[in-house]
Amino acid sequence: MHQPVLLKEVISHLNLKEGDIVLDATVGGGGHAAEILKRIGPDGRLLGLDADESAIRRTEDKLKNLSGSVSLIKGNFRDLDMLLSKTGIKSLDAALFDVGISSYQLEDASRGFSMKYNARLDMRMNTSLDLTAYDIVNNFKESQLSDIIKTYGEERMSKAIARQIVKARAEKPIETTHELAEIVRRAAGFSYRKSKIDPATRTFQAIRIVVNDELGALEEGLKKAVSWLDTGGRVCVISFHSLEDRIVKRLFKGYASLGILNILTKKPIRPSDKEIAENPRSRSAKLRVAERI
Ligand SMILES: C[S@@+](CC[C@H](N)C(=O)[O-])C[C@H]1O[C@@H](n2cnc3c(N)ncnc32)[C@H](O)[C@@H]1O
Repeated sequence: MHQPVLLKEVISHLNLKEGDIVLDATVGGGGHAAEILKRIGPDGRLLGLDADESAIRRTEDKLKNLSGSVSLIKGNFRDLDMLLSKTGIKSLDAALFDVGISSYQLEDASRGFSMKYNARLDMRMNTSLDLTAYDIVNNFKESQLSDIIKTYGEERMSKAIARQIVKARAEKPIETTHELAEIVRRAAGFSYRKSKIDPATRTFQAIRIVVNDELGALEEGLKKAVSWLDTGGRVCVISFHSLEDRIVKRLFKGYASLGILNILTKKPIRPSDKEIAENPRSRSAKLRVAERI
């Protein structure tokens, strides 16, 4: 079961009122969306996006008994201008980005996001796009792999891991999550034996980020959302690793210096110990909030 992260904090910072027009750019399991809908009431309007078709269907189901106007659209938030202009919405009172993947995606064995399950290397949020983890792992050059694993996994063993990947695939294509995880573990060797984190975690993260161009989409989507916000409108962003958080922090600062945004969280809001105990997935979450001037 997916539990929405930092739910109370998000809802209070979105500063919603009845009749508001709100964008949930990442509906996922519809957890935040349901709470938003309750706050904006029957006169409000919720636009929910997700790159993943199954997230849209799940959210439709979750929201079906709540009153209010809801449009759920499968799409990437980087295409926000195009998606919003199709709805007739002129501006937003609030926007939420809860980025990364959902526990539904992680726990869906067939999607190849998690090394917990043996599945074909896929990792696409939007399964109608072409590029998969399989393509990256089997076709990218060693230097590209090493750069990706270093940059997006912040992995210091990136060169050794890339070398092992290339060596393994010369014998036969690397088809599954378990094959890849084993190759990474072997390459990472002794230095990680005592570490609590499986060394494959960082490499999986890196590949997933590239498959979905997650950082590029965040930068583009967030810029567009800010441009649609009404004066006094709030934007909340929950990120799950430092690469994402850095983008949000830098963008907010840039807009603040231009007098476009007022940053409401000098330091990001973190989940309480209680929330982390109840939902360990929340432990790396950081919420940043800004208001349109
Ligand atoms: C952490 S989950 C969101 C959970 C949601 N807030 C809830 O309460 O259930 C992230 C979701 O964002 C979607 N996503 C990630 N990047 C996206 C993008 N660029 N455009 C649209 N959806 C995206 C994923 O498919 C996933 O369903």
